[in-house]
Amino acid sequence: MKKLFLVLSIAIMAVLIATGCSSSTGGSGDLKVGIVLPTKDEQRWVQDEERFKEAIADSEYSAEILFSQGSSAKEKENVNTLISKGIDVLIITPVDGDSAGSAVEAAKKEDITVIAYDRLITNTDAVDYYVTFDSVAVGEAQAQYLVDHSEGSGVPLYMYAGAATDNNAFLFFEGAWNVLQPKIADGTFKIANSSEAEALKDKAELSREEMSKIVSQLTTGWDPNEAKNKAETHLTSAGDDMKGDVAILGPNDDTARAIADVFSAESGITSYVISGQDATKASIQYIIDDKQSMTVFKDVRTLVKDAMDMALTILDGETPETTGSYDNGSTEVPAKQSDVISVDKDNVKEEIVDSEYYKADEFTGLE
Ligand code: BGC
Repeated sequence: MKKLFLVLSIAIMAVLIATGCSSSTGGSGDLKVGIVLPTKDEQRWVQDEERFKEAIADSEYSAEILFSQGSSAKEKENVNTLISKGIDVLIITPVDGDSAGSAVEAAKKEDITVIAYDRLITNTDAVDYYVTFDSVAVGEAQAQYLVDHSEGSGVPLYMYAGAATDNNAFLFFEGAWNVLQPKIADGTFKIANSSEAEALKDKAELSREEMSKIVSQLTTGWDPNEAKNKAETHLTSAGDDMKGDVAILGPNDDTARAIADVFSAESGITSYVISGQDATKASIQYIIDDKQSMTVFKDVRTLVKDAMDMALTILDGETPETTGSYDNGSTEVPAKQSDVISVDKDNVKEEIVDSEYYKADEFTGLE
């Protein structure tokens, strides 16, 4: 019997490792909180996992974290697993905002409180709360950096977007457009890689459909390979007037590094300024090395704390505090929102190391 158990355990471990699905449980007592994150393949979500683990270890409740590995089907399976384990609160970052609807509706049927974490779940009323960063401010910070660090006029502007299945990609783009559009209109920038943005360049405010046209054209799918391929295609078809000193709206760190590598290898590009977000370790090193210009630091410690505090308040039978609400296409979801910080080489030490987010010895060349 013991042997069989051992063989089974090893088999289960092997499946977990093979599918990249990891699970970690912490705290004590019955499982009360289930956490579902979109993928372990991006450092952004590994950061969240680490911070959740720290928070769970300090909590009197038990919690479990599952990863969906970029698959909505896996996500649904994860939610069902947690439902069957008897959770009372589900904290979930959807792989695809619309597709996650059926998973959270299943949770709601069991009276589980659903908290959307960082990414909104759209077009369902089965979301109780939303804990998020100010994503419009993320896009504004990225774009403002490009404006502040580009010289003269007629600067070629290359824009890239996140995944069209992620509501955040729209919020980031909306924020970027708020800042970039007037600078396109006054001739500071000229659009290098989007016929859809070119067609809408005189409109200060875009509808969701208009934004969707641009985002669909400029999407990276949050995938560095897709970002790299797109950047290569854009540079191959760009004339000399779209080269020289350029500005690049990089949607997040992983895609920004891929795009930056393509631009730095192109002889016609004399300099580039490129944005990112997430303060991933790899991109902090790129910033120190002058290969990526900036990142938007979204302190995951704050987001995890907000989500866990909210979950604990709900478990105590009380109503959590919120700071506003987001329309998810079906209902107004009460939300708690956190600020973001623009980080470049000048303040990287202060914001990232002095704040103890990462340790200095994780980087080389940090002054
Ligand atoms: C998150 C970003 C992340 C991106 C890709 C977005 O929803 O807000 O922090 O880089 O997804 O995973």
